[in-house]
Amino acid sequence: MPPMPALKAEGAWLGACYIMAYAVETVGLVKRYAVAPSGTFIGLDGRPKSRSVQSFTGIFGLFKKQHGPYIEALKGVDLKIKKGEIFGILGPNGAGKTTFIKILCTLVLRDGGEVYVNGYDPSESPSDVLRNLQAVLPESRGFNWRLSGRQNLEFYALLYGLHGDDARARIGYLLDYTGLRERADDCYQKYSTGMQRRLLLCRALIRDTPIIVFDEPTAGLDPTGAVEFRDLLIDRLSRREGKTILLSTHNLQEAQGLCDRIAILDHGGVIACDTPDNIRHLVTEKRTMRVVFSGMVYGPIQDRLISALKEAPGVNSVSPTFDQEGILTALTIRLDKDADISGVLSILTDGGLSIKSVNMDEPSLEDAFMAMTGRGASNQGAGRAEGGA
Ligand SMILES: Nc1ncnc2c1ncn2[C@@H]1O[C@H](COP(=O)(O)OP(=O)(O)OP(=O)(O)O)[C@@H](O)[C@H]1O
Ligand SMILES: [Mg+2]
Repeated sequence: MPPMPALKAEGAWLGACYIMAYAVETVGLVKRYAVAPSGTFIGLDGRPKSRSVQSFTGIFGLFKKQHGPYIEALKGVDLKIKKGEIFGILGPNGAGKTTFIKILCTLVLRDGGEVYVNGYDPSESPSDVLRNLQAVLPESRGFNWRLSGRQNLEFYALLYGLHGDDARARIGYLLDYTGLRERADDCYQKYSTGMQRRLLLCRALIRDTPIIVFDEPTAGLDPTGAVEFRDLLIDRLSRREGKTILLSTHNLQEAQGLCDRIAILDHGGVIACDTPDNIRHLVTEKRTMRVVFSGMVYGPIQDRLISALKEAPGVNSVSPTFDQEGILTALTIRLDKDADISGVLSILTDGGLSIKSVNMDEPSLEDAFMAMTGRGASNQGAGRAEGGA
């Protein structure tokens, strides 16, 4: 049954049905974590207390809205993730990626703003949210080490209300799907990290939800395991099954190759949200072309060539490289971001010069990330106490 439009999620009525425009929608999402000095906990009044005065009131105080010093993990995040999209969340350590994901999958309650998962609010309708979204979190193993992979899945199938032949068929299909069938009857404790990850994925897929969320899905996998996992995401879950996939990652190349759109999160805020290609070009207005000549380019030809290139549309500057005898060996041509390079290429080829190589130096997602956050994708940036109200 579709959620009621009273939830304010964006969408439109189609006859008697309200169709959600987005799989995930957040508006001004805020999350604060209380920070207590070591040896203390947060009391009912929201202030740190000594552990020696632990009492029921103190323990309940942990759940009270905090007024003491806090870390603002999310500071008003607005994101709209379309149905069927592969959406990546990037950000340095401590940016708020896991917190965002945990709010979506009902593990953490927000302190402000709005969140909708296929139109359902995780704090108001957690069971509806969990019918629509499954999360694969690296730390949430929850498997029994002495049971086999298959038995662990049977246990979860039972919890999810899947019994008998239906459960066996679904589990068999998922074990094939993830390449685990041959080791399905081995004890979980014998599984490698990659196999444990695949079992986590099986567990997430027991319930066939339209949205799947992964927190750093390929961390700890070897290159082959990571490639297999990416193929599985793109080919099966996204293309064949049309699922919406949200993943957080530190791997910028992975994000560039996998995701339809990405958001870069830093210090709890979204600093960019677009396609990987558009984000790559956000930070730089220029592209660089490097031309290396194989034959000799003498004086008068050099001068004519360089002045013709400088006149070509979209060209900003031309820097020649000379060898010890003063002969031109290469050119570095700075171009506008959207310049048509055919004019430049025809000037180079019409001159009858022998060209060894032409390389375009495009900005990478890493360049954009570094420029926007001032840090590499895996650099530390955590632990920001913001002070109280
Ligand atoms: N349970 C918690 N209690 C207190 N602070 C927390 C808690 N969980 C997260 N934080 C803080 O909230 C901020 C965001 O953390 P979060 O785990 O969401 O970041 P992240 O982007 O997933 O980082 P990473 O890339 O290291 O996984 C950090 O400053 C972190 O220390
Ligand atoms: Mg994290």
